[in-house]
Amino acid sequence: MSLSSDLVQAFRQRFGDGARLFRAPGRINIIGEHTDYSEGFVMPAAIDRSCLCAAAPSPDGVSRIFSLNRDGEVRELSAARGRQNDWSDYAAGVFSALQNAGVSPIACHIGLSSDVPEGAGVSSSAALEVSVLTAVLALSGIDATREQRAAWARSAEADFVGVPCGIMDQFISVSGQAGCALVLDCRTLEARIAHIPDHAAFAVIDSGVRHQLTDGGYAQRRAECEEAARLMNVSVLRDADLVLLAQASLRDVLHRRARHVITESDRVALTAAALGRGDLSEVGHLMNASHQSLQNDFAVTCPETDRLADLARSTPGVYGARQMGGGFGGAVLALCDRHAAANAVESILRDQERLSGRRTDGFVCAVGAGAGEIHP
Ligand code: GLA
Repeated sequence: MSLSSDLVQAFRQRFGDGARLFRAPGRINIIGEHTDYSEGFVMPAAIDRSCLCAAAPSPDGVSRIFSLNRDGEVRELSAARGRQNDWSDYAAGVFSALQNAGVSPIACHIGLSSDVPEGAGVSSSAALEVSVLTAVLALSGIDATREQRAAWARSAEADFVGVPCGIMDQFISVSGQAGCALVLDCRTLEARIAHIPDHAAFAVIDSGVRHQLTDGGYAQRRAECEEAARLMNVSVLRDADLVLLAQASLRDVLHRRARHVITESDRVALTAAALGRGDLSEVGHLMNASHQSLQNDFAVTCPETDRLADLARSTPGVYGARQMGGGFGGAVLALCDRHAAANAVESILRDQERLSGRRTDGFVCAVGAGAGEIHP
C-alpha cells in the first residue's frame, strides 16, 4: 500500500473518519551552506520526498498526534506540555509558535508518515513542521503568506526544539516549485527562480553518519559567525566582504568561518549564472569548492562525507559533489547527468560499501513542489 493510504487507514483506526491530507517536502540545497543565519544567499529546491500529515478537528478540544515513523502511539499535544526531547517536539513547537504569535489554531488530531530520511541533511524536521503547520492552518481557516508560514515553522525548531537554525529549510518546504531551485536572499526573503536544466539530476547519497543538530556543533558555528561579524563591526556576515576580512585581524578560526560564509554566498550567485547557461561542469566545480570550504574553513564535514564526496566526483556521469545540510555527517549531494544518475548512485553506493563495509541509502530526486493539501 502507498504511504498515504496506510496513513489514512491508521488515522481512521485511531481517530475515525474525516481526515484531510497534507504534505510538505524535504529539500536539497544545491549550494549556499551555513549562510542563511548570516542573512546570506542559499539555493535550495524541494524534493519528491515528503512528510504526509492526515488531520481532522479534535472533538474534545485536545490535540493529539501519532507517527507511523515511530511506534504509532497516540500522544497528547497540549500547549503546556513543554519540550520532551523527542520527535513530537517538532509538532508541539508549531502549536507553541502559533500561540506565541497570537494565532489561535483549533485543536487537531494528527497522523504523520514521512519518507524523508532523518539526519541525512534533507531536512526531515522542516518537512514535519511545515506539514503540521499547513494542516493546522487549513483546518483552522487561517490564511498566511509563505514568509509568515516559514517563520512560524522555523520558530517551532529554533524557539521550541532549541536548534538555532536559519530560514532556508522551512522556506523551501513551504514554497518550492517543481523543476526549479530558488535563489533565496535570507535577509529580504526575496526568492528568484533558477530552472534546473533538463539534462541535470541530483542524487542524495547518505554517508550513514548521523548528525544531531541539537548536539551543539551547529549552535557553535552560528555563535562563531556572530562573533566574527561583531569583531568586523557589521551586524551579520552578509555585510562583510573579503576586503573587510583582510583588514580585520580575526583569530584564525573566526577568519576561516567568515571566509567560508563570504565565499559561499558568492558561489551561490556564480552557480545561479552557470545553471542559467546550462553549464553543469561549472556548477559541479562550484559544488566541489563549496565542499572544500565546508571542510577546511567551516569544519563541518567528517572523514566519511569527505570520502563520499571524493568517491562521487570520480564516478562517471557526476559533475560535482558536496556535503549538504547542517553537517557533521549526513548526506552528500551529487550533480549528475540525468541519463547516468541511476548508475552513478549504484556505483557510488557499491564503492562506499567496499571501502567502509557498510551499505547506505542513495536516491536520485525529482525537484518537486512545496507544501499543500493532497486531494486523493
Ligand atoms: C540546517 C538548518 C538550515 C541551514 C543549514 C546549513 O539545515 O536548518 O537553516 O543553516 O543547516 O546550511
